[in-house]
Amino acid sequence: MKTGDSKIPPMSDLRLASLGPLLIADAPAKAAATLALDATLPVDAAAQIAEPAGIPGRPARPRLVEHITLKPPSMRTPAGVAALVHAIAHIELNAIDLALDACWRFPGMPEAFYRDWLRIAQEEATHFTLLREHLLTMGFDYGDYDAHNALWDMAERTKHDVLARIALVPRTLEARGLDASPAVKRKLVGAGDHRAGEILDIILRDEIGHVAAGNRWFRYLCDQRALEPVATYAELAARYQAPKLRAPFNLDARRAAGFDDAELAALEQQP
Ligand SMILES: [Fe+2]
Ligand SMILES: [Fe+2]
Repeated sequence: MKTGDSKIPPMSDLRLASLGPLLIADAPAKAAATLALDATLPVDAAAQIAEPAGIPGRPARPRLVEHITLKPPSMRTPAGVAALVHAIAHIELNAIDLALDACWRFPGMPEAFYRDWLRIAQEEATHFTLLREHLLTMGFDYGDYDAHNALWDMAERTKHDVLARIALVPRTLEARGLDASPAVKRKLVGAGDHRAGEILDIILRDEIGHVAAGNRWFRYLCDQRALEPVATYAELAARYQAPKLRAPFNLDARRAAGFDDAELAALEQQP
């Protein structure tokens, strides 16, 4: 039987293909489409791809509100525990979009750059799916609680410069996730949610790899532009109003992700 599919040319470039799930609004469908991307597609690193309207596709729910209006949920009720799991699922949904956006947007990088962000997008899709499936077992779903748009805001601000994007998203926001992970896990496991603790272990393992990719490409870009990495990071963090990173830092995870002694010292010497 002939289907309409034969009229659609096969997607032949990894960067163009990554736009597909980025534009999908429905969250579980976005995650599934990301996982279904063919990571072996060839990469056209030189292509200047025009930004289509509607990036990123987002579901009608959750409602996006100002970050400061969201209160930390109480761990004393099942709805409070679910709210924390929901907040992490929201971060993971954003992380899918951030990784797909890094894959399509910036021309002229080595092929390994695009393959890294596609692999990362697929890991983020796994994280989102694990958390959403867990939420369903708790009687809730993604979209049931308000959320914020702080992560995508940083993507918008840094969309004109791959160096700023890598410095501020994987090396700042994702690295902050490494710092936050132990306390969040303690909260959830302390409230009796052992499954969430197991999922957070998977996420932490993978996130070390995402921050490591950020460090690798940050150093590559600093070398290419003859910039000194520590001073350059400080300058970009100030210019793009990066969130202030607060102790306690997860120094083991940060070291495993490739931050060196000078970078960790700079982190601990922040005013
Ligand atoms: Fe993740
Ligand atoms: Fe990540």
